[in-house]
Amino acid sequence: MSKDSSIRAQLSELLGEEWNAPDSPLRREKPKRLTIYQALKACDRLSIIAAVDKGREVAVAVLADGTKVVLTDACPHDGGLLSDGFVEGNRIVCARHGWEFDGLTGECAHKPGLRVACEVLSKSEDATES
Ligand code: FES
Repeated sequence: MSKDSSIRAQLSELLGEEWNAPDSPLRREKPKRLTIYQALKACDRLSIIAAVDKGREVAVAVLADGTKVVLTDACPHDGGLLSDGFVEGNRIVCARHGWEFDGLTGECAHKPGLRVACEVLSKSEDATES
């Protein structure tokens, strides 16, 4: 093994220098994100989907009460993708370490005062029915 123990160097040693060439079948492309409009169409109640808004990575979620929200797709704890997490009631749960965020305000349940940028796109369908 070479002295350079970085992952990139180890992969190059194991697979050859071509492993990261743009046309290499071993290279994983970052999955393309949906627009907010596409994500809203694909997002069911109690689900969260990665999207992009003007170049910014966001997550679109539909909360338990039907409210549709968009939030920054980065957990303030350690940068996990909130879109990899799940919706529990009206909270967004980060899949990496389980931190929870209020889906309406972005407020972190574990660290008062800490929040993710969060915007309500449309209010709950349930609330408008009553
Ligand atoms: S990165 Fe989200 S809880 Fe740790």
